[in-house]
This record gives sequence, structure tokens and C-alpha cells, in this order.
Amino acid sequence: MKHVYHLDLNEKHVQGIKLVLLPGDPDRVPTIADHFENPIKLAHKREYHTYKCSLDGREFLVTSTGMGGPSTATTVEELAQLGIKYFLRVGTTGAIQEYINVGDVIISTGAVRLDGASYHYAPREYPAVAEYELVDAAIHACKKNEIAFHYGITASSDTFYQGQERYDSYSKYVPRHFQGSFDEWKKLHVLNYEMETATLLVAASSCGLKAGAINGVVSNRNQSEHVSKNDLELGEKNVIKVAIETVRLLLYTTP
Ligand code: URA
Repeated sequence: MKHVYHLDLNEKHVQGIKLVLLPGDPDRVPTIADHFENPIKLAHKREYHTYKCSLDGREFLVTSTGMGGPSTATTVEELAQLGIKYFLRVGTTGAIQEYINVGDVIISTGAVRLDGASYHYAPREYPAVAEYELVDAAIHACKKNEIAFHYGITASSDTFYQGQERYDSYSKYVPRHFQGSFDEWKKLHVLNYEMETATLLVAASSCGLKAGAINGVVSNRNQSEHVSKNDLELGEKNVIKVAIETVRLLLYTTP
């Protein structure tokens, strides 16, 4: 029987399942799964935590990617090997446009590839774009829940500090390559920074798989570099609400 090494899952765990929700944080896996029917823990190895659960009897997985591109690529790779076709990131993010508030949800239509892992799947000319079906379902889910949302381009960086032009790092130095990048992405109407979406979108679409990303806003970088506990909770709560409704729509519309 096929077994995948990092996620510690086998074919039997995933039999017949086509959809996975992908939070970054392993602790968010049971939190999400507990909102559905029959949550069952399947595996927990390193940063990868997986539950199976269902909605109206239709099963799907919740698996954590860990932080950043390399661990996200491994998650997509191993779940694809077991038969998963639809991948929806359920993450958190820092907004860079002034008009976006903490608690809003950002639906990525595409991503700036400030990662490294996506270049192992496809050359730089290849776009990081989300699957239309997933974007559409997420927009409907936000409207249904009356949660403020924005859709557009996300910047996905391998680093939380330098690549997102934060000066509160240990060295307080941002290499020249990234100096001014915050303002540039802002002027180019990029909505937010996070660390996984570009890798997810390229790894999936380059393999003929379908992926999308929704991120709850936990800070607005124009106001503060700090993420408070309350703001984190609000961003997480809202993105999970949207994820629940998105799953409902996808499970009824996808083959
Ligand atoms: N995650 C990130 O990568 N950046 C933020 O600003 C917030 C969450």
C-alpha cells in the first residue's frame, strides 16, 4: 500500500477523498476539523498534522503545511500522490493596502513569487494563479457570512522579516534587493504578504491540480508590525468561517 513519508499517510486514509483544507499551523487542524462531522486524527509528524472529517457525509482532509514554501510543496506533492485534486489554503496574513482591516478575508487570485520552492516546479515566466472555481466559491462564502473580503494579488515570501521588508528583525537590516519592496508592491496593488500561496498555486497548477488560498487578515502593516492575540484570533475565526462555507460549496459542485 502506498505510504507517504513526511505526512505519514497511506492510500487507505485518503481513499476516495479529493479535497483538502491547508492551514499553516498544525494547531489549527483540529480547530478546523472540529467544526465538521466525525473529525478523526489520521497522523501527526513534524509540522504535518492531518484530520479526516465530513460534511453531509462527504469526506475531506485538513492537513497543516507548516510555514513557508518548502514544507507547502511537500504537502501538495504527497497529498497529490495519494489522490487529492483540490487544495485550499486557509491561512493568516498581513495586509499592505490601507483600506484592508484586521478580520477581513483576502482571496488570492494570484501571487507574486517571492519564494524559492515554486521555481523547482516551473520557470519564472510561469504564473502563480488560483483556480477560478475555488476563488468563486470563496467569494460566495464571504458574502454568505457577511465577512468583508478582497480578492487580488498576494505576495508570498520565504521569509517573514527580510522578504516582507520588516526592519524589526535581529539585524534590523533588509538586504538592498528588498529595500523599498513594501512600497512597490503597495503601488502595484498587491493586497497582502504571507508565506505559502505562491508555492501552493504553482505546485498545484503545474501538476494539473486545482488550488486556491484564503487568508484572514491579522495585521495591517501600515499601522503596526505587531500581531496581537485578539487580532490573530479574529483573523483566524473569520477565515475558518469562510473555509467552512467554501467547503460546503465545493463538495456539492466538484466531481
Ligand atoms: N503572516 C505573514 O507572513 N505576514 C504577516 O504580516 C502576517 C502573517
